[in-house]
Amino acid sequence: MTDAPKPVPPEAANAMWGGRFAAGPDAIMEAINASIGFDRRLYAQDIRGSRAHAAMLAARGIMSNKDAEAIGEGLLTVLSEIEAGSFPFRTELEDIHMNVEARLQELIGEPAGRLHTARSRNDQVATDFRLWVRDQCDAATLGLEALIRALLAQAETGADWVMPGFTHLQTAQPVTWGHHMMAYVEMFGRDIGRFADARARMNECPLGAAALAGTSFPIDRMMTAEMLGFDRPAANSLDAVSDRDFALEFLSAAAICAIHLSRLAEELVIWSSAQFRFVRMSDRFSTGSSIMPQKKNPDAAELIRAKIGRILGATVALFTVMKGLPLAYSKDMQEDKEQVFDAADTLMLALAAMEGMMRDLQADRTALEAAAASGFSTATDLADWLVRRLGLPFRQAHHVTGTLVARAEAQGCDLPDLTLQEMRGVHKGITDEVYSVLGVRNSVASRRSYGGTAPDQVRDQIARWKEILG
Ligand code: ARG
Repeated sequence: MTDAPKPVPPEAANAMWGGRFAAGPDAIMEAINASIGFDRRLYAQDIRGSRAHAAMLAARGIMSNKDAEAIGEGLLTVLSEIEAGSFPFRTELEDIHMNVEARLQELIGEPAGRLHTARSRNDQVATDFRLWVRDQCDAATLGLEALIRALLAQAETGADWVMPGFTHLQTAQPVTWGHHMMAYVEMFGRDIGRFADARARMNECPLGAAALAGTSFPIDRMMTAEMLGFDRPAANSLDAVSDRDFALEFLSAAAICAIHLSRLAEELVIWSSAQFRFVRMSDRFSTGSSIMPQKKNPDAAELIRAKIGRILGATVALFTVMKGLPLAYSKDMQEDKEQVFDAADTLMLALAAMEGMMRDLQADRTALEAAAASGFSTATDLADWLVRRLGLPFRQAHHVTGTLVARAEAQGCDLPDLTLQEMRGVHKGITDEVYSVLGVRNSVASRRSYGGTAPDQVRDQIARWKEILG
C-alpha cells in the first residue's frame, strides 16, 4: 500500500516561491543549492543595490515613498546587524539576497515584500557581483601601486649598481640593479592597465534586466546605474544577466599579475641563496629551520611563487563553468563567486607580501658587482669595440672574441685578465684601449639607448614612473 502524499505544512516550502511548491527541499538539495556560506561576502553590495532599486521604484511611482523609506531604513539595520556579527544567516534561505530580504521582512513587515518588484535575483546577483569585482580592481590597483613604489625605491638606491644580466640563467651582459627592478615596474604597470581596462568595460549596470527579458514596470535604469556608480545600464537584458566576462577578465588580469609576482619571487629565492648572495631578505619575511641553525628560508617568496597555482586554477575553473552555457541565467553561474573570492584574496595577500619584502630587501652591491665581472659578461662589449674601432664585421668580431673567451676560460681567468700580448696574438689590431670596455661599469654606462641599462636611462625611467604615480 502506497502512502498518500502527506500534506506539507506551508512553512516547509520556500517562503520566496512557496506558492508552487508543496514540499521543502531534500537536505542534500539544500546543501548543493545554498550559496550563503560564501556569497554573504556580497552583503554590502546587495544592500546598496537594493537601496538604489527601492529609491528608483519610489521615484517612478512604482512604490510609495513611505514604503521606500521603510525599506531603505530597514536595509541599513540589516547592514549594521551583519557588520556587528549578529545577523542570523540561514542556509535554508539559500543565498545572501534571500537572507537579506527575509530579515527585512521580519524587521519592517509588508513593505519588504514590495522590494522585489521589477527585479529578479538574476539581475540582482549580476549587479552585486559586478560591484564586488569592481572594488577588487581598485584594491588590486592600490596594491600594485604600493609595490611599484617599493620597486622604485630599490631602483633609485641601486640605479648604478652593476649586476649580471642573464639569459638562460647564464651570465649574459652586465646590467644595473635599478634596471632589473624597473623591468618589474613595467610588468606591474601593465597589470594596473589591465585592471583599469577590465574595470572600464565591466562598469555597466545589469539591474533592471530583471529575470532575463526586462520588465513591464516603468523603471529608470539610468537612475539605478548612476546611483551605483556605473557608467550606463547594460544594453541587453539577456546579456546583462548571463554575462560573467567581468569576472573572467578580472581573473585573467589577476593570473597575469600573479605570473609577474611568481617570476620576481623566483628571482628572490635564487638571489638569496648561499650560491648567489645577491640579496638579503629581512627577518620579517623569512623563516628559520627547526633542525638546521644556519638556514634562513625565503618562505614568503616561495609562497608567492606558488600562489599563481590557485589564481590560475580559479581562472580555468570559471572559464570552464561559463563555456557552452546557453543564455540567459543558469545556476551554474553561482559557481563564479568562490573562484573569484579566492583568487582576489590570494592576489591581494601576495601583492602585500611582495611589497613588504621589496621594502625590506637589501641588495649586496659588492656581491652583485663581483658576479657581474665574472662569466665573461663583457664579451659583447669587446666584440662591439672590435667593430667600432677596427672596423671588423660583427660576425668576425664575434669569432675573435669567442677565441679570446676560450683562452681566458682555459687559463681560468676573466677577459680583463688576459695580457695585451695574448689578445694581440688573436687579433693584432687590438690596443690597450680595449681594457676600458672590459670593465663592467663602463659596459653598463655605454648602454644608453632608450630603455637601456645605463644608469642615466634608468633614472629617466624612475622619474617617468614617479610622475605617473603622482
Ligand atoms: N545565488 C544565485 C547565484 O549566485 C543567485 C541567483 C539565483 N537565481 C535563480 N534564478 N535561481 O547565482
